[in-house]
Amino acid sequence: MDARYRHEILPLDTPDDDPRWRAYVDIFSAVFLDSRASDEGLPVFREHRRADEARLAMVTTEGPGLDGRAPVAGFNWTRSTINCGTQVPVMIINTIGVLPSHRRRGLLKSMMGTELGAAAADGVPLAVLTASEATIYGRFGFAPATQSLDVEIATGRFALRDDAPTAGGTVEFLTPSAFAPHWRRVADAFQDRRRGAVTQQHMNYLVESGEWSSADQGPSRSLRVAAHFDDAGTLDGFALFRHKGWSEPVTSEVVQLTAPSPAVELSLWRALADLDLVERLTAQLQPGNVLPHALRDPRAVKFTGLGDNVWLRVLDLPAAAAGRAFDADGAVRIGIDDPLGFCAGTWELRAVDGVGTATAGTDPAEVSLGADALAQLWLGGTTAWELAAAGRITGAPEAVARLGRLLRWDTAPANRAEF
Ligand SMILES: CC(C)(COP(=O)(O)OP(=O)(O)OC[C@H]1O[C@@H](n2cnc3c(N)ncnc32)[C@H](O)[C@@H]1OP(=O)(O)O)[C@@H](O)C(=O)NCCC(=O)NCCS
Repeated sequence: MDARYRHEILPLDTPDDDPRWRAYVDIFSAVFLDSRASDEGLPVFREHRRADEARLAMVTTEGPGLDGRAPVAGFNWTRSTINCGTQVPVMIINTIGVLPSHRRRGLLKSMMGTELGAAAADGVPLAVLTASEATIYGRFGFAPATQSLDVEIATGRFALRDDAPTAGGTVEFLTPSAFAPHWRRVADAFQDRRRGAVTQQHMNYLVESGEWSSADQGPSRSLRVAAHFDDAGTLDGFALFRHKGWSEPVTSEVVQLTAPSPAVELSLWRALADLDLVERLTAQLQPGNVLPHALRDPRAVKFTGLGDNVWLRVLDLPAAAAGRAFDADGAVRIGIDDPLGFCAGTWELRAVDGVGTATAGTDPAEVSLGADALAQLWLGGTTAWELAAAGRITGAPEAVARLGRLLRWDTAPANRAEF
């Protein structure tokens, strides 16, 4: 990054009328091919970033066409938690953007190095992001650690098997505002229950409660809620969906479905599949989802796409190992190639009675891998065997298998937070 650029932070208590707010948000709307920030959208950005105590990093410069010293690149992130068996501190990288007139001059590289370093110095062992392109973040030690599956569900073929778990209680259709007070409790319960889940941020609340829709630039007009109430009348699960109009096949999009158990989850799917006139539901499931296995006709669920979900990066291996659940005991010496240095070196990764340790050592590694491969294995969504077959892990097959068994989880990772 050359000398005319400067790394700065936009403080959260910057007065609302400071023009840098709009310039900052406009970086992201420009690079994500969106409309310019509206008078309604700008206060919403300030609200959720302040609520999450985000860090608004930016690169500023001066020059023709710029209003004084102006932000030309932004990188904002929040300190939060991810369920790895325990709730581990995590850096959620929310948005990164570099204006087209300043790209490919090392601004992303500089912001990434500075901000990952700031998070690591603050005792955060993991970082997560979602990627607009799959080719950007591997060089920084990130890799896709969870996946999502696009599905279409033919409602006419939807019938649960006789042995599918069933829930008591009722399903009711609510307005988003009636549902909103329950959102945090149900979202947090999911976070506590599922490994791989990243804590929901205030923006997730605003969107899932229908309070804010970027399409409507105000409260959502299309969001609908199906809620499950247990036998005691407590709302314990919900599905968010929207109708897509009358063109055939008549389709409703399931935006989010969160339930405390497979039984409640299936009750909600059945309520959605029973919607009169609706012929097709579209949704994103995560690998390990109960639905296809519980249907009489598993082909009622058609898989139409596979995408990556959470991209992970390990910043502090000993702290990450201490906070991670291990479902099998074992030990393996791993050599990690980490261009940014955070995990570089040889480590003994060990689990005893499910408690993990990573200890730096000098004995030769049995298995060698990049920081991105380590990240891809960390939530149990990919096996060591797969990455070895792809040439991204080297070592004797027995040692690779040992690493695979050590990092394997008995349950599939699942995340429902968008960031
Ligand atoms: C992607 C983006 C952030 C890159 O910013 P940048 O400042 O141009 O990146 P840098 O100059 O620091 O590049 C760092 C490295 O990444 C590479 N790189 C940058 N963008 C890339 C891309 N889209 N695909 C593949 N590699 C990319 C560069 O070639 C460089 O590689 P090197 O270290 O081997 O030389 C920027 O182009 C952008 O804002 N794009 C649109 C929005 C977006 O996709 N944001 C990311 C959201 S997840």
